[in-house]
Amino acid sequence: MQFDRIVTHLENVPHMPPDRGKLIYEFVRAKKPQGILELGFAHGTSSCYMAAALEENGAGRITTIDSEVAKQRTPDILSLLEKTGLGAFVDPVFAERSYTWELMKLLEKHTVDGHTTPQFDFIFIDGGHTWDSDGFSFLLADRLLRPGGWVLFDDVIWTPSVCAGEPWVDAMPAEERDVAHVEKVFNLLVVPHPDYDSFEFDGTWAWARKKPDASSSTGDRSDIVSAIYSRTNAARRSFLFRRYLKKLLKIG
Ligand SMILES: C[S@@+](CC[C@H](N)C(=O)[O-])C[C@H]1O[C@@H](n2cnc3c(N)ncnc32)[C@H](O)[C@@H]1O
Repeated sequence: MQFDRIVTHLENVPHMPPDRGKLIYEFVRAKKPQGILELGFAHGTSSCYMAAALEENGAGRITTIDSEVAKQRTPDILSLLEKTGLGAFVDPVFAERSYTWELMKLLEKHTVDGHTTPQFDFIFIDGGHTWDSDGFSFLLADRLLRPGGWVLFDDVIWTPSVCAGEPWVDAMPAEERDVAHVEKVFNLLVVPHPDYDSFEFDGTWAWARKKPDASSSTGDRSDIVSAIYSRTNAARRSFLFRRYLKKLLKIG
């Protein structure tokens, strides 16, 4: 779908404004990612801009994750995808708690014998905007990003103090409230990462590329993985047996 058409569907839908929508649309048109991972879709606006570009490319798919509460938004992502007819390009995942747990499931699905096969060419992180959430998400998502792929962070200079009054912000230590957490993630985890280059920051968004020659292989670690599993299984069995014995003795 051409940009001029998708933008009319998304008029007045938070959060991504049309000028940013155009940037991400053009990025997807230019790089032609086959697999996109988005963390934080809210109403699905950014997902729709990317999906429209994928439709125009003729291929590609977005896995996008938010929490269950996103179902209560008006419009919600499912109705927006139906309205735009772009549902075939997007797999929305509604996490019961957090996308970090859903990322564990994705990693588990694509890891065999200690080797993870990356699935994505573009990862858009626009979720919690906190050190814990975005920092950990980057480290997890990196494992799923193909060499040559890109990662994009939104709201790099946003600070939690903008939402002062909200219980989760007021519960934070004061020194964390006035800090731009995404900026810390980018400057401390992404830029120093030996696998990344081509850093860009436009005042709102920060981009980085995973080097095309970054190693996506850990080699064959199947022996280590099965050795660890067999030891943890043995430890679990012994723990359960001891607990069972204790219970029996108490009854006796
Ligand atoms: C700024 S909005 C996303 C906007 C969207 N990308 C766009 O541009 O249209 C951030 C979203 O991240 C979600 N979010 C934040 N932390 C999350 C977490 N740990 N797990 C799942 N979703 C999370 C929120 O529910 C919210 O809908």
